[in-house]
Amino acid sequence: MAKHSVQQSLMVLNDVIECYDTQSRPVTQNINAAQLKAKLDVSLCEEGADISELKEMALNYLQQNPDVSSAKFNKLLYSGLNAPALLGDWVTSISNATMHTYQVSPVATLMELELIHQWNKLVGFDRGEGVMVSGGSQANLIAMLLARHKACPQAKSQGIRETMVAYVSDQAHYSSLKAINVLGIGSDNLISVASDEQGRILPEALEAAIKASLSLGHKPFYIGLTAGTTVLGAFDGVAQCAEISQRYGLWLHIDGAWGAPVLFSNTHKHLLDDAQLADSVAWDAHKLMNVPLTAAVILTREQGLLKEVCSGGGSDYLFHADQNANYNLGERSIQCGRRADALKVWMSWKAIGNKGFSDKIDYLQQLKVDFSALVEQSNFELLHQPSYLNVLFRYRPQIALSEAGAKALCIDICEKLKQQNIAYSDYASCKGKSGIRLILANVNINIAQLSEMLAACEAFAVQLIESHEYDRADEV
Ligand SMILES: Cc1ncc(COP(=O)(O)O)c(C=O)c1O
Repeated sequence: MAKHSVQQSLMVLNDVIECYDTQSRPVTQNINAAQLKAKLDVSLCEEGADISELKEMALNYLQQNPDVSSAKFNKLLYSGLNAPALLGDWVTSISNATMHTYQVSPVATLMELELIHQWNKLVGFDRGEGVMVSGGSQANLIAMLLARHKACPQAKSQGIRETMVAYVSDQAHYSSLKAINVLGIGSDNLISVASDEQGRILPEALEAAIKASLSLGHKPFYIGLTAGTTVLGAFDGVAQCAEISQRYGLWLHIDGAWGAPVLFSNTHKHLLDDAQLADSVAWDAHKLMNVPLTAAVILTREQGLLKEVCSGGGSDYLFHADQNANYNLGERSIQCGRRADALKVWMSWKAIGNKGFSDKIDYLQQLKVDFSALVEQSNFELLHQPSYLNVLFRYRPQIALSEAGAKALCIDICEKLKQQNIAYSDYASCKGKSGIRLILANVNINIAQLSEMLAACEAFAVQLIESHEYDRADEV
């Protein structure tokens, strides 16, 4: 039976961490799937393996995975290593608590409730509620579910019998599309509303879209704003959209998966002014707060609604009417088994404090300002005026490239940055233009490193243009 003890696993973990911490490695290995398959045997066998084989695989696993702890990793909306959160994650695994009932997750339940209280305080929901979820995608799904329930309570038991319509900006994350599909409302009924040059939803366009739906006899029910869009980091203005949502009786959700932590900072929280006017807010702890995946929350202004909408079944064997029944968070959730993600967030928040998160945001926001200035003084251009921690920029060559040519150049620059272990960055397209998307999420990066990265980008751009035929813009 069990060949391995917890002590052995711990010893291996120690060795693996020692290697991870002390050995230098590239930010990514640049290995394609066929090469990796040839190099690494991931097959499973009839006979069980020795711990030494597990150790070898653990080392290989970390070796081959992009190094998300590195300051060179600026490809995604998170970067860096969070030691207190890791401790919480490991202890969570030992406890293997599941969050449906207080009985089997007593401390994690109290922690989750404290986190929800703190998150609501930051948002400004005085009597708010919430439940932790697997990520922003699930939070957005729940928000849309709550909205559907408010507009059409009978849908919970009878399904949907009318054409319901939801509105998000053309910059919103694709999870809204998944949500409307999952909820049986249909992706044709998600209206993509135009945004301005900086990626913020246009309230006039929103209202016009709602009126157009009404004139077709459809039922508008949900407005999804974004605080920190995925590509540009834009913050939709809340106040005007809240007025619209009230005028037409629609649910107002804010997807703050990426941008909501700005509320920690007194200097920058104005970006999300009026958040308390929303009905719900999504907040990922596994993005800017840098807690290991997955950790997120859906917050609601109204108490009791999550249970009203998400509960159903389980009282015959699980949700007993005992003295702690009010603490059974499972009835607020669409999951049964749910990992105790609260502990790692709690440990991290306890160790860092609100002040620590605020300092992080202030530091990164200043870095954004400094980097943007560098871009503007160089042969690069900004594709927007960054308000948050996303900077989309690209090279301005002497020869005029077509949009396809400019995109190809961005892709090739990112590839070079990766190959030469300068940075793992990504490109993105927005409003018909493509650029390199720099995400500032790691406090261990500074302006000197970014300046070197920009210089490298320029050197690559010059070389690439000399040696490649990028598609040119038509001469006029
Ligand atoms: C604005 C926004 N919302 C939602 C999501 C989805 O979050 P998750 O990956 O936690 O499901 C993302 C992911 O990048 C995002 O950028």
